[in-house]
Amino acid sequence: MDHKRKILVTSALPYANGPIHIGHLVEYIQTDIWVRFQKIQGNECHYVCADDAHGTPIMLRARAEGITPEELIDKTHEEHSRDFADFQVAFDNYYTTHSPENREIAEGIYLKLRDRGHIETRMVKQAYDPQAEMFLPDRFVKGECPECGAADQYGDSCDACGSTYSPTDLKNPVSAVSGATPVEKASEQYFFKLGHFEDMLSKWLDSGAVQPEIANKQKELFEDGLRDWDISRNAPYWGFEIPDAPGKYFYVWLDAPMGYIASFKNLCAKTGLDFDEYWRPNENGDETELVHFIGKDIARFHTLFWPAVLHASDYRLPNYVHCHGFLTVDGAKMSKSRGTFIKARTWLDHLDPEYLRYYFAAKLGSGVDDIDLNLEDFSARVNSDLVGKVVNIASRCAGFINKRFDGRLSPTLAEPDLYQQFEQAGDELAALYEAREYNRAMREIMALADKANQYIDEQKPWVVAKEQGREQELQDICSMGLNLFRLLTLYLAPVLPGLAARVEAFLPVSLSGAGAWSDREPMLDMEISPFKHLMQRVDPKKIDAMLEASRENLEPLSTKAASQKAGVKKEPRTKMTQTIEPIADTIEYDDFAKIDLRIARIVKAAHVEGADKLLQLTLDIGEENTRNVFAGIKAAYAPEDLEGRLTVMVANLAPRKMRFGLSEGMVLATGPGGADLWILSPDEGAQPGMRVK
Ligand code: MSP
Ligand code: ZN
Repeated sequence: MDHKRKILVTSALPYANGPIHIGHLVEYIQTDIWVRFQKIQGNECHYVCADDAHGTPIMLRARAEGITPEELIDKTHEEHSRDFADFQVAFDNYYTTHSPENREIAEGIYLKLRDRGHIETRMVKQAYDPQAEMFLPDRFVKGECPECGAADQYGDSCDACGSTYSPTDLKNPVSAVSGATPVEKASEQYFFKLGHFEDMLSKWLDSGAVQPEIANKQKELFEDGLRDWDISRNAPYWGFEIPDAPGKYFYVWLDAPMGYIASFKNLCAKTGLDFDEYWRPNENGDETELVHFIGKDIARFHTLFWPAVLHASDYRLPNYVHCHGFLTVDGAKMSKSRGTFIKARTWLDHLDPEYLRYYFAAKLGSGVDDIDLNLEDFSARVNSDLVGKVVNIASRCAGFINKRFDGRLSPTLAEPDLYQQFEQAGDELAALYEAREYNRAMREIMALADKANQYIDEQKPWVVAKEQGREQELQDICSMGLNLFRLLTLYLAPVLPGLAARVEAFLPVSLSGAGAWSDREPMLDMEISPFKHLMQRVDPKKIDAMLEASRENLEPLSTKAASQKAGVKKEPRTKMTQTIEPIADTIEYDDFAKIDLRIARIVKAAHVEGADKLLQLTLDIGEENTRNVFAGIKAAYAPEDLEGRLTVMVANLAPRKMRFGLSEGMVLATGPGGADLWILSPDEGAQPGMRVK
């Protein structure tokens, strides 16, 4: 290694009011892989993080649990630390934003911003809860969407139609804290003049410090001029009070990124590292590097506000802010009802954390695209790549070396060319890790593993072992196999530190120590220790159990919330004791194909005067086709439960004239009837008008 880099790396600070889940883990695993890679390269790399411990949600959460915010954040800090450690996310320091260091840093930065004329105050009207006597963040005002009328929407945006607005636009607003109707109240707020930093920011965004798609997105905001950023909140608030403004607190997003600095400062106190070397601008060019990993949802905070604040207060700028996409599970947003909202702890209770590390690595590239955890693909991939290809090599070779040669490896390499190919691949793989192209790195490594298996398949050590006088050959083949295996596990070590450690326990080399990457000399004439089992196949039953546990964990809460919300009875209305109807006579496919089933959106549902069983539904089946349908579901559903929902209808049923009007089709439902009736709905993603086949 010619030049040893010094790098400070961070991941975003998780909020201290909830558990770590597998969505978060995309980020911490991505970062940890990069950090481990740097260390194995021989670079000096420090990885710091912390809990983001301030803000209204944490204050309210603590209140609801009947504990102090300090108690809540202490408890969470312990849980988060344990989750990360068990997922082998190896921070050099995991701190909290509610620390003396952070208070000092935040105050110091604020005073510099103020003294240099970058802070301005002005009166702002905000939603105020007169009963709870507090100002309400947007997320704590709920009401009907001003655009589409959907009920129970947050104050900043509508989940139903996606429009964004301010909480004062909501119809029939209520405070999510007390249920009271919020009033508007003016108060003085502190603003950071982001616009003062346009030149500096546009240069920084163009410097290659962020991915091009992020740079372009931020630069769109320059067109109308950068808006001031409100950095203050009124008491009661859980955070740091602004030094010259009693009763005003720093907005959580002001002191949160400063938590990176504070965590590092705390590490310096423990280890003697030089703080200024990492956080002050360096006149001789950048000798140290600062790299942030974040999710795309918080890009603006890290690529506009943060660099501007750092620059304005004599700190150095980040060399790189890497943004990743969001995790979906089986193609959809993580869902509590489907059991795909999986907490880190629930995963650990059922499955090996290294499976997830490997799968994420196999999916993650350098872009900001979302990544999908497809559970079938997941187990197939882990089983075929890690167990079938990699670990298999060792189990096919190590036994012979242990039993027949006293653990001794051959003094020469059977296939020096093949070894050299593997050894040289290390340079390309290093470049891929460096560029965060883990998915490509994993593909290359598996292509090498295929070659190693092919070598063993051709040499057939299990045949050679049975033949007299071929002892040397057997030792050579197995030694060759183990040498290839060693390079594969070295290349996988940033992703699979546990596997690397188990391999280090029986091979006489380091795979994970500082600088291990540069030692790729073959193991010749060395002794190995007894081989122990390295990794198990994924057990599909455990995946099911994990999904089930995730559902159990969360369902009571979420169904309760959901049913309060829409008035929908989600619990089965009766026990299904009646016998299931017998299956009808067989029909030909052609008979089935005659039925034109379509996805329909119930845009309107209404009572029908004089009808005691019917609701009148207006169904949207795409391309501005609407159908009027009378459905006998009045005992099972209130109209407002149905509006906006997707269902399935028979679109080519001959129209039928009824007493109340023409019915143009039929919606599909199941159940014996009356109140015990359930209409069918498609999974997320289906659109009105799609044909059901
Ligand atoms: N507290 C802020 C960050 C402050 S950084 C100075 C925050 N916390 S968070 O807990 O909501 O998220 C922490 C990180 O996890 C963020 O980078 C976020 O993008 C990431 N993720 C949270 N859910 C995620 C997915 N479902 N998928 C991928 N990343 C996700 O934001
Ligand atoms: Zn809406």
